[in-house]
This record gives sequence, structure tokens and C-alpha cells, in this order.
Amino acid sequence: MREAVVVSESSHVIPLELDRRYPVVVRGEGVWVEDAAGRRYLDAMSGGSMAATLGHGRRDIVAAAEGQAAQLSYVHNERLTNPARERLAAELVEIAPAGMTRVRFTTGGAESNEMAIQLARSYHVERGESRRWQVISPAQAYHGPTMETLALTGRPGLQRPFGPYLPQHRHIPPSTWRFDPSGGAALDALDRVLDEVGPQNVSAYFCEPISAAALPAYSPPARFWEGLGERRERHGFLICFDEVVTGIGRAGHWFAAEKLPLVPDIIATAKGLGAGYAAIGAVLCRDHVYQAFASGSRKFVPGHTWDGAPVTCAVGLRVLEALREERLIERVREKGPRLREELAAALAGIPMVREVRGHGFLLGVEYVDPRDGDSFLPPELGVARRIDLTAMEKGLIVLSTMPTRDGFSGDQTLFAPPFTTSDAELSHMVERFADTVRAVARTVESELN
Ligand SMILES: Cc1ncc(COP(=O)(O)O)c(C=O)c1O
Repeated sequence: MREAVVVSESSHVIPLELDRRYPVVVRGEGVWVEDAAGRRYLDAMSGGSMAATLGHGRRDIVAAAEGQAAQLSYVHNERLTNPARERLAAELVEIAPAGMTRVRFTTGGAESNEMAIQLARSYHVERGESRRWQVISPAQAYHGPTMETLALTGRPGLQRPFGPYLPQHRHIPPSTWRFDPSGGAALDALDRVLDEVGPQNVSAYFCEPISAAALPAYSPPARFWEGLGERRERHGFLICFDEVVTGIGRAGHWFAAEKLPLVPDIIATAKGLGAGYAAIGAVLCRDHVYQAFASGSRKFVPGHTWDGAPVTCAVGLRVLEALREERLIERVREKGPRLREELAAALAGIPMVREVRGHGFLLGVEYVDPRDGDSFLPPELGVARRIDLTAMEKGLIVLSTMPTRDGFSGDQTLFAPPFTTSDAELSHMVERFADTVRAVARTVESELN
């Protein structure tokens, strides 16, 4: 049986949405994927999740994995190490912001974030400050589906029904154009939370430097980052960046942290490191964090079975090499602003489109109620879902997010193509996307009037 789409009734898989039809994708080449019926889709989301940064079907990466697997596919990381793991750690330190000296491998984004939290907490414990456990983070974020990473967001819609399992972390509102364009209100909120929990109990401030799905391509204003840095100095907590999406080139730099007015203490990354060819993530820390262990217990927490495995690290090494050889991060940096302009021009005049944001190849489109050009769209219209389904019908993969119950964001779309997408393919994606948004906007307007 070669079905082109699968619905829950015909599948043994538990999908995200039981009422959705899922295309069965059987092959991929470059920025195209093809389903079992031979329908082709332009992949403006790098595999759907921003991971496949180098496109599909790269024989060089497959060959790197194959070569490593033939020589040594697996050894565990706790009592043995391997050359690919050692080399990849050294290369990551080289491309990371200055002062980052150590790496711990993981097998994905949520695991990297969990590891970052454990690293921050252990740093304080090693220094005799075991009271520090609380983590403060922006409410409108996504850090993964594990219990701790769910607790790091302030999104009740995501946390439900796991509330009883989640630590009570504290959140501040995002400083978007709607709530706090200057970043001042977010700093006031941070001060209030610090006061309430006691700054001596705070382990870390945890955030995405540039948001992905939760607030596509949004980054707080410089004033917020500067204020955050001052508060770190004053209160002694660490700053952890979730660069699961932005790390390894997505925003036009190895790490998004490079362009911000502060250096984080810990960076968690994942997706682009394996580029969709291997499940690999990494956590990097500044030397003072490592030195807390080096001059303390000289021990750290156990990892997972596949952390730092030879095959996944060999893929990571080839990914970094390909990014350098093909100057792909430079391409993302140079082409990104033009892509944003192209997208904004194609969507101009659609009253439902309020803002087109972008950093490199991470772009976001925010929709509003066309009747006032300002409010969120009524959630019952399901605009985000309609955008994704209409795009799929037009042979385009994008990812839109639904309004959340906390009131910090409405419907929006993420547009994150592979770095290898040619100019003509980018224009083609923009064209299909503009067609999609126009079609959805027409039905929405007629329903609202
Ligand atoms: C910003 C961000 N952090 C963390 C994660 C979780 O990564 P993973 O799905 O690899 O656990 C994601 C996944 O989309 C993400 O976008």
C-alpha cells in the first residue's frame, strides 16, 4: 500500500493532530520533498522543523555517516570517547562566541536545554550557592516537550495537562511592538520577579535570542539585552540561550549571540548541527562555568546513551565543513535581508498582514484582525491552521502557530528555508506563500464582514 496521505484511522502512529491528513513523504532532493503519489512540495521550513538547513539528499553527509559507521558506529560517552566527538567539540569551541571553552553533546533540542539548566544549577551548587534553582524566562517561547522545557514557557495551552509535573518557573512578557516596543516593561517585569523570588535564589535567565515558532523571528530590543546583562552582574545568575534553531547559521552567524550586546554563559543548540541527517545537539559554556567543576567536585551529570556517538558527530563535522566550503552562512547573512524585503513586498496590501520580520533565513509573518489592523484575529477562525493547509495544497511547506491562551501572540507563520535554496527557489517559495496568504485572507475577510 502506497498511500499519499495518512489519517489517524489508517495509521498505527499517534500524530500531533488526529484530524489531520499527513502527506507520506518518500524522498527529498534539495529544497523539494515528494509524497507517495509523486506530489512535490517546496520545503520552506527546512524539513518542517528548521533542522534540514542544507536541504535534502546530500550525498556528502550520507557518505560521512557511512564512512564513520563502517569504522566505528557506536561507543558510549561515559567511559570511552572517540575522535569524531573530540574533533567536533574543538570545532564548536572555535566557532562559538569568545570565551566558550567546553561542550557537552546531546541528541536534540529539548535535551540540550535540559542540560543547560542542569549545567547552570550545578555551577551554583559547585560554588556553594545551592539556594539558586529558580529560572526566569519569557512567557512566549518554545523550548521543547519535556517537563522542564515545558516549564520554561509560560504557555498554558502547551503546559496542559502536565502542570502538576512542572516546576514553578517564573516568566516575563515579551517586548513586542504590541506590548513593549522599547524593552523597558520587560526589564521592569524582570525586576519584579527578581524581587519576588529573591535574586539569591535565581540560577538563570533562559531565552531564545531570536524566537522561532513561538514568536517567529522576534528578538527583544537592545535596551532589554543591555539591562539583562547589568542585572546578571548585579545578581549573579547565569544567562542561557536556547539556540536550538538559531545556532549553526540560521540567523546569518554561527550563533545569534554574536550580534547581541551580551555574551551568554551557556548556549544550547541542536537542529542545524545535524542538518536533519543525525539527531545531535550540543551545550557550550564559558570557561568560568566549567571552572566551577574543574576546581570543585570534578564531576558532572550522566548523559544519554547516544550523546557524542561517533556517527552523529561525524555528521556534525561534515555539516560544519560544508557550511564553510560553500560559504553558506555568508549567503544567509547577505541574502536574508533581501528575502525579507521580497516577502514583505509580496504580502504588501493584504490587510491581515501586520508585520514581516527577519534575521537571516529565519522569517516571521504576523497576522492581525483586518477590521482594525491591530487586534489578534478571532481564534475560532483558525487562521494559522488554514495557512498551513492551504500552503500544503499549493505544494509549499510552512509552519504557522496558533493563538495561545496567554494573550501574547496571535496567528503567525514561520518561513525558514534551507541555506542552500537558490534565488529562483526562494522567489518561487515567496510566490506560493503570497498566493496562500491572499487566498486565506479573502475567506477570512468575507467571514468577518
Ligand atoms: C527554539 C526551540 N528550542 C527547543 C526545541 C526542541 O527541540 P527538539 O524538538 O529537538 O527537542 C525546538 C523545537 O522546535 C525549538 O524550536
